[in-house]
Amino acid sequence: MLRVENAAVRFGGVQAVNDMSLECPPGRVTGLIGPNGAGKTTLFNIITGLQRPDSGRVLLGDRDLTRLPAQRRARAGLARTFQRLEVFGSLTVRENVLLAAELKRGLSRKGEAATEIADRLLARVGLTALADSQAGALPTGSARLLELARALATDPSALLLDEPGSGLSENESAALGDLLLSLAAEGMSVLLVEHDVELVMRVCQHVYVLDFGELLCEGPPAYVQSDARVQAAYLGAELATA
Ligand SMILES: Nc1ncnc2c1ncn2[C@@H]1O[C@H](COP(=O)(O)OP(=O)(O)OP(=O)(O)O)[C@@H](O)[C@H]1O
Ligand SMILES: [Mg+2]
Repeated sequence: MLRVENAAVRFGGVQAVNDMSLECPPGRVTGLIGPNGAGKTTLFNIITGLQRPDSGRVLLGDRDLTRLPAQRRARAGLARTFQRLEVFGSLTVRENVLLAAELKRGLSRKGEAATEIADRLLARVGLTALADSQAGALPTGSARLLELARALATDPSALLLDEPGSGLSENESAALGDLLLSLAAEGMSVLLVEHDVELVMRVCQHVYVLDFGELLCEGPPAYVQSDARVQAAYLGAELATA
C-alpha cells in the first residue's frame, strides 16, 4: 500500500499542495484528477522524491520513504512516468527498456534475462513492431507507451502515471486502460493522473480530486463525477461531457 499523509509544499506565494493525504492500495487503479495547476505533478514529485515536502510523509507498506532520495525509493518499489516525456531519444525502443531492465537486475544472473524482460514488456504495451525504431522519432502516443514499458521494467509494486493517455489514439487509450486494469489485477498499486475523464471513469475504483493543492472530493468515479464542487472546479466542461 502506497500512502501519503498530510503532504504540503509551497513555492513562494503558491501553496502547490496543502495537507493532502491519499491511499493507493494494491490491486486497484486510483485516480488523481484536478484542473491544470491543481498540484498533481507536484504531489507525484513529493511521492517519488523529486520534491521535498514542507511537511507530511510518504509510506510504502510499513516503510517510511519520506527522507529517502529518489533512487532509493525506486529500489523500494516506486516507478513513474513523466508528463513531459523522458526517453533516451538516440536509443532504440528496445534499448530504452533494456536499460531499465538491466538497472533493475543489477549483477544478478538468476531469473529472466534483461532482453527477455524487455521483449515481454514491449509486447505487453503493444510496441513490438517498433522495437528497433529510434525512440526520439516516435509519435507521442508510442513514446508514452515506451515510458510505461520502462517503468514496468523496474518491476515496481507501485506505479505512478502522469497523464499517460495524452497523445494516445482512441484505440491506444482503450488498450492502455486494459493494461492498467491487468496490472492492478496482478497486485500492483497504480496511481493515475489523467485528464481523459473517460479513461479515469473506466479504470479507477477510487478517485481523488485536487483543486488549488487541496483535496476537493474523493470517492468512486461516478460519485466524484456527480459532485457539484468538482463540476464547478472544471467549469462543468471536462466532466459533464464524459
Ligand atoms: N518548481 C516549481 N516552482 C514554482 N512553482 C511551481 C513549481 N512546480 C509547480 N509549481 C506551481 O505549483 C502549482 C501546481 O503545479 P503542478 O504542476 O503540480 O500542477 P498539475 O496539477 O500537475 O497541473 P497540470 O494538469 O497542468 O499538469 C502551479 O501553480 C505551478 O505553477
Ligand atoms: Mg501536471
